[in-house]
Amino acid sequence: MAPGPWPLAPLNMPNTIPIASDHAGFELKQRLIPVLRSLGYEVEDLGTDTAASSDYPDYAHPLAQRVSRGEVERGILLCGTGLGMSYVANRYPNVRAPVVWSPEIAELSRKHNDANVLVLPARFLTEDQAIEIVKRFLDTPFEGGRHVRRVDKIEVHGDAR
Ligand code: RB5
Repeated sequence: MAPGPWPLAPLNMPNTIPIASDHAGFELKQRLIPVLRSLGYEVEDLGTDTAASSDYPDYAHPLAQRVSRGEVERGILLCGTGLGMSYVANRYPNVRAPVVWSPEIAELSRKHNDANVLVLPARFLTEDQAIEIVKRFLDTPFEGGRHVRRVDKIEVHGDAR
């Protein structure tokens, strides 16, 4: 069969990436958006839209909901420490949202934990560091194998809730 046209990303790497931040992550989010677009991703900017003070849960909930429902495979959240965004996102079923501060952690969060929401501590990363982390996160597949069983055990079921 003649090659192309095809999506810029492979089929197992969906093309749509929602991204959201509070005020502390706003500037870095604005810098990451064109980078993601240049990598071939369709970016959904879920806010915030200004550097004015805002509440991180207001931005984490809509993004985590999209991932939890399977409407998108991965998303990116930013706040000052990454912690608040992570707390919110990880309350949603099937969302695994690590705070990531290095490309190595990004890689392992994908390989071992099948992480699906990348959370960046914007006040503790340079732009270059954040770009490297995002690339590594998006480029690394889940390793599967023994990690499937472990990831399956993350969800809290029934009486334990
Ligand atoms: C905002 O000052 C800061 O608290 C927020 O961005 C985040 O770090 C919370 O976890």
